[in-house]
Amino acid sequence: MGMFLKNAWYAAAWDHEVTTDKPLARTILNEPLVLFRDTSGRIAALEDRCCHRHLPLSKGKVIGDILQCGYHGLEFDTLGVCVRVPGQTRVPPGSRIRSWPVLERFQFIWVWMGDADKADESLLPNWQVMEDSEWAVVKGDPPFRIPCHYELFNDNLLDLSHLAYVHINNIGTSTVPDFPIVTTKTENTVRMIRWIMDSPPAPLYARFGGFVDNIDRWQYAEAMVPSYNTVRVGCLPAGCGAQPGDHPDDFAVVSGGRDAQGFEFYNLNAITPETENTTWYFYAHSRNFAQDDPNMDEEFSRELRGAFQEDVDILAAQQMNIDRHAHNPKEWIDIRVDGPGLALRRMVADAIASES
Ligand code: FES
Ligand SMILES: [Fe+2]
Repeated sequence: MGMFLKNAWYAAAWDHEVTTDKPLARTILNEPLVLFRDTSGRIAALEDRCCHRHLPLSKGKVIGDILQCGYHGLEFDTLGVCVRVPGQTRVPPGSRIRSWPVLERFQFIWVWMGDADKADESLLPNWQVMEDSEWAVVKGDPPFRIPCHYELFNDNLLDLSHLAYVHINNIGTSTVPDFPIVTTKTENTVRMIRWIMDSPPAPLYARFGGFVDNIDRWQYAEAMVPSYNTVRVGCLPAGCGAQPGDHPDDFAVVSGGRDAQGFEFYNLNAITPETENTTWYFYAHSRNFAQDDPNMDEEFSRELRGAFQEDVDILAAQQMNIDRHAHNPKEWIDIRVDGPGLALRRMVADAIASES
């Protein structure tokens, strides 16, 4: 335990959570950070510990371009350099605190927790759909804080058979596990695809799409090391031309009818370890129907947050049970749907091993 991949971007906050008027405290990978935004909009991620007497800087104030400690007023710039000590002209040598590279992209604030010179934008997940006007975006706000190890959540998002049990009242149907999955891998991604053909619509699908009869439904989940997961799901009325094996992109062109008859949405999931036993869960939805309807924004976001709360409850109970049996640990039994999750666990373990 205690092992996290350091050289990676982690979602630390939503863009709107980091403001120019007050600092935000957030712990990531066991590092207590303080985030703030200067007058030019630049974001700082600093160690949440004043170099003077170690008060959390998140108890201080943002004043223009600096963060002022709330105890004796030392001032720090966005790189963590102490630029002023009240009552003296000289700043003692070594008066600085650690800073981490930050990116603001796709409405998330990302922090690079490893070596600054290895920070590489191309390692972000490609979430352009957050900025595509054809898709209506709703952010999951505030992020969930889940009392579980983050890899339990990685497993959850790569195994959508659980919709039949955990989410049967909203996005699940009992038929989901009857349909096999196809797993594909690259060096740092695992993709799980399932087509659920000619099955009744889940309750929320029926409501959002007005479906009465059976639908063909697709689930695409693509996870990337260490813990980003892009889930793309959608459906068409059964028999409208969807075929298992189609990619939704191709399929929209072939059918020409997706927008009229069916719908799709993305769940973009950024999972950030807080500690070994706690996890930040940032998610957003992007949908291709009722894009300009604020009521749908509200309903969609409320219903899916309710569904994700069901995952949070499961993961918390799972972690609690692992912990209370710590005196008597047992190996897990694996079943077929675990394939993608196990593949991602191996990739993350290899990446961590190659760092140390
Ligand atoms: S503890 Fe921060 S100024 Fe003294
Ligand atoms: Fe779930």
